[in-house]
Amino acid sequence: MTDRYAVFGNPIAHSKSPQIHAAFARQTGQDLSYEAILAPRDGFIHAVRAFAAAGGRGANVTVPFKQEAYALATRRSLRASVARAVNTLTFRDGELDGDNTDGVGLVTDLVANLGCTLHGSRILLLGAGGAARGVLLPLLAQQPHSLTLANRTVTKAEILAAEFETVASRDGAAGVEVPIAACGFAALAGAAFDIVINATSASLAGDAPDLPDGLYASGALAYDMMYGGDLTAFLRRARDQGAARLADGLGMLVEQAAEAFLLWRGVRPHTAAVLASLHQG
Ligand code: ATR
Repeated sequence: MTDRYAVFGNPIAHSKSPQIHAAFARQTGQDLSYEAILAPRDGFIHAVRAFAAAGGRGANVTVPFKQEAYALATRRSLRASVARAVNTLTFRDGELDGDNTDGVGLVTDLVANLGCTLHGSRILLLGAGGAARGVLLPLLAQQPHSLTLANRTVTKAEILAAEFETVASRDGAAGVEVPIAACGFAALAGAAFDIVINATSASLAGDAPDLPDGLYASGALAYDMMYGGDLTAFLRRARDQGAARLADGLGMLVEQAAEAFLLWRGVRPHTAAVLASLHQG
């Protein structure tokens, strides 16, 4: 019997996840189906339980339900616990296993697809909401030279940075203490970074964080965790401010999907051809 998987979100109509997982299933010869399910904003838990009861084997979870999925999970991986968000659920032995593959998806995209060296680099992470929280530990584990967390509301960046300094030293983050600085956007003036990652939701509104000029070091990459057909406002601004390289979050989407597929099926698909076909449109 074909194993059923799904992605839950709201909105969900334009999700590329069904296309990605169908390609993975073809490539690996796995017998599965994967559908997009629009859950009502107040009906996520009911929708997931109904899907599991109908024989679903697992699910991805996207905006705005990742925190609810975290609460719903009966068991959680370390990376889900640290992120306080779940993007991958596995229904197994009556349990709902919650994991979070977003952070590893971002790091794989940066390192394997874009050829970035995170080790020893100066990283600027923009935003202090769920998206930033979800990628912080995997970024720290790469042992960058420094990680600066900048947010429109400075106190939120400060609280998140303080929390992660504790987590990083407690859970090792590969055993090295990476300094985390927290600040607002204006306070970045005069600093330079090798990688600038936009984890704010500004791009959703066609907006970009208000960053000072001169942040992009020679050869620097600007990375938007959002993606869309055209350059996001953040990437347009980064190009104008001298970023040498631009990337959107399509690669992260494909890599987090590959990690979810690995959790469910025990095999990690090759992502290059799938990503190339999505880039073509
Ligand atoms: P998510 O889960 O996507 O991170 P969130 O928890 O609502 O969503 O957080 C949204 C993040 O985007 C916050 O860091 C927010 O900044 P504030 O903490 O100051 O609200 C940031 N953000 C949203 N719109 C923004 C904009 N136009 N410019 C800069 N930052 C923005």
